[in-house]
Amino acid sequence: MTATTNEPSPQVQTKEPVLQATGLVKTYGHVVALDGVDLELYPGEVLGVIGDNGAGKSTLIKCLSGAESPNGGTILLDGQPVHFRTPLDARTHGIETVYQTLAVAPSLDIAGNLFLGRETRLPGPLGSVLRMLDGNGMRKRAKEQMTSLGIGTLQNMGQAVESLSGGQRQAVAVARAAAFSSKVIILDEPTAALGVRESAQVLKLIESIRERGLPVILISHNMPQVFEVADRIHIQRLGKRAAVVSPKTISMSDAVAVMTGALKVAPEQEVAGQV
Ligand SMILES: Nc1ncnc2c1ncn2[C@@H]1O[C@H](COP(=O)(O)OP(=O)(O)O)[C@@H](O)[C@H]1O
Ligand SMILES: [Mg+2]
Repeated sequence: MTATTNEPSPQVQTKEPVLQATGLVKTYGHVVALDGVDLELYPGEVLGVIGDNGAGKSTLIKCLSGAESPNGGTILLDGQPVHFRTPLDARTHGIETVYQTLAVAPSLDIAGNLFLGRETRLPGPLGSVLRMLDGNGMRKRAKEQMTSLGIGTLQNMGQAVESLSGGQRQAVAVARAAAFSSKVIILDEPTAALGVRESAQVLKLIESIRERGLPVILISHNMPQVFEVADRIHIQRLGKRAAVVSPKTISMSDAVAVMTGALKVAPEQEVAGQV
């Protein structure tokens, strides 16, 4: 194999999903949060997931990211069955998730947040015996990561995250996921707490992650944003997948109508595979 790793994966040839869920069930007491959900994520795509409040979006991604264990169904990663017990388990398999609540450590600097839980130590006895962290090395690699993702507004990797704006903090959280994910990035409402300009930055970030060839699951109830970046849209309703549609062939109002149950998508309008 002579394929170079920095080229985006070819988007059209591969037909196998990177991540596939079949018949996922999750109950909380009498509440059926997931009622047999299917999901496929193909290489190099942004899959939008939309649905009304309570439709099961967050529960779905919690099951895919190891934060919850489903009561039934299967999850395949690269065609192999996986059973994640913890988020760390999923991360070890290359699935990085940014949860709905802003997930950064405010008192640490940008580099510290990027390498949180994966700190690198100085070479030799300073690192192995004295456990000293390689601060310069981490700041340097943090800067490279930010630059490669086009996050130019963050210059000083030693800046405390608590001094950043909401959008910049979210950019740090997304950059962290992009830095360590090898397979899949899941973003749950990444722009919910952000203003218009900050949201646009996060959307650009999602596009540069896709350019790297990494597939992204984007949960959002912001229709224009989903329609702007998603290749396919999974519509979640009452714990099930109501349809998978293309933003190129369905209107936003029809997508909302499917979400609320006012409209059923004809089978020929469904986009099952890659687009
Ligand atoms: N930890 C929990 N305990 C009890 N019920 C829950 C819990 N998490 C979610 N639910 C319920 O499961 C359903 C789906 O919720 P959720 O996945 O958060 O939906 P969404 O993210 O689409 O708004 C809702 O009825 C919600 O109240
Ligand atoms: Mg949610």
